[in-house]
Amino acid sequence: MYKKSVFLFLLAFTGMAVSAQIEMDQDLMQNIEDSTKSLTSNIALKDIKAGTLDAKELAEMFAKVEAFYTQKGGADDAVSLAKKSRELSLQVGQDIVTRNFDHANEIATTMSKTCKTCHSIYKKDA
Ligand code: HEC
Repeated sequence: MYKKSVFLFLLAFTGMAVSAQIEMDQDLMQNIEDSTKSLTSNIALKDIKAGTLDAKELAEMFAKVEAFYTQKGGADDAVSLAKKSRELSLQVGQDIVTRNFDHANEIATTMSKTCKTCHSIYKKDA
């Protein structure tokens, strides 16, 4: 019994170590897409709570993208575009909190352009 629980513990621990590795996959991008759509509609609805949550999630996801390309190396444009997107996410969050919805909209538009710029360079089927 004792051995079995140690084994299960190790198994759980290894699983955590693996999932802590940075990945940049379609799920991450799909989540970014979903949060971006949600963000745009929450800005329109002036929903501060939901909008700031979207902005926070986007900042976290772009931090992952940034870390992925930093680790990968040789993709300086992707690193700086991900960094820019992360900073724009934080900015949009600030704008929503301070009820500066017009500016939040402008930032969201700039974010969408940044998505397209990165896709045109790094997304194979863009
Ligand atoms: C730093 C570069 C970069 C930025 C910034 C970026 N993307 Fe991507 N995106 C990619 C790459 C690379 C792929 C292709 C990934 C793959 O197919 O594995 C991709 C794929 C996608 C896909 C397709 C996923 C699928 O199911 O095949 C969607 C949707 C997407 N991105 C949305 C967005 C949106 C929305 C934004 C901006 C809010 C954004 N991306 C910003 C690099 C970026």
